[in-house]
Amino acid sequence: MPGRSRAGSHTKSATRKQRARRVRLALGAACFCAGLLLALPVVHAGDRSIWNPASPTAESIHSIFLLVIGITGVIFILVQGALLYFVYRFRRRDPDDKTEPPQLYGSRPIELAWTVAPLLTVFVLFLVVVRTVSEIRAAPPSENALRVTVVGHQWWWEFRYPDHGVTTANELHVPVGDDETPRPIVLELESADVIHSFWLPRLAGKTDVIPNHVNMMWFEARTPEVYLGQCAEYCGTQHANMLFRVVAESPADFDAWVEEQRRPAATPESAQAGWQLFRDLACLNCHTIRGTVARGTVGPDLTHLMSRATIASGSVPNDRDNLIEWVYDAQTLKPGCEMPGMKISRAEATTIADYLLTLQ
Ligand code: CUA
Repeated sequence: MPGRSRAGSHTKSATRKQRARRVRLALGAACFCAGLLLALPVVHAGDRSIWNPASPTAESIHSIFLLVIGITGVIFILVQGALLYFVYRFRRRDPDDKTEPPQLYGSRPIELAWTVAPLLTVFVLFLVVVRTVSEIRAAPPSENALRVTVVGHQWWWEFRYPDHGVTTANELHVPVGDDETPRPIVLELESADVIHSFWLPRLAGKTDVIPNHVNMMWFEARTPEVYLGQCAEYCGTQHANMLFRVVAESPADFDAWVEEQRRPAATPESAQAGWQLFRDLACLNCHTIRGTVARGTVGPDLTHLMSRATIASGSVPNDRDNLIEWVYDAQTLKPGCEMPGMKISRAEATTIADYLLTLQ
């Protein structure tokens, strides 16, 4: 009965093939769903979402993004749809059929179609990109423009206001503008060490921050709000903790903030012990506190440290416990950071933190 046993093995291999096909389908569906799930946090990144632009530059980037997604989406659906249709329509119906389908070569209309269509698509995208780049490159000339120098450091941001004589860190205060009085914020981006990237998703795109080279960028905030940004170029161990906040406020609030920031620090009698420790431990070699002899520029300016909501470049809230922890051993809060462990007692760290708390 050789015939019967052959038929039996055929059925067996046919069911095996069916099972394999089902496994492949299930795997494909699982990968697709996993991809969607992974994409969700990007879409819903909240304050850092690219879907919620709040500045003319971010809006230009957002609309070009939608256009590109739209065009590529249509191409994706056409190509994948045709692929799925042909795979299904011309599938092998008989598992024993070992013949090849008829092979066709050369079709002028088809060749023309798939040469001209991509050319046109790329040309349209090129034109739109050129227009958008010119829109977001140059800030509109305005006597109301606010100039800020941004310096990327491993791993924090320095913000200098050359027209106001103010320097701060990790928190950029800007006035909001409106149609009548636009207030463009013009940033000059510099790096103190390696390449960083200044990314402010809701207000502007991202621009590389390069050593020995000044890059420009501008944006304009329209609603008073806190916008989040981050470094978007891998720059070492603590790249992920190189966050910053942009506090957009009414022009009056902004002027008041500038006034506050220009004030030099005053050390109350009760904080003298902490100041002495700060001085004796050589903290002043790295940090500036205006109004004192501390003039270091390696670390953040601390003159108005307590006006900031976070420390360690957005890593942790700026409160007494975290300040003590930071002064005692910054490496536990931000491993690898440039702030050295000071080899001091917890009591000494507390005394210094209590001094820092007076830097309102
Ligand atoms: Cu700086 Cu990543």
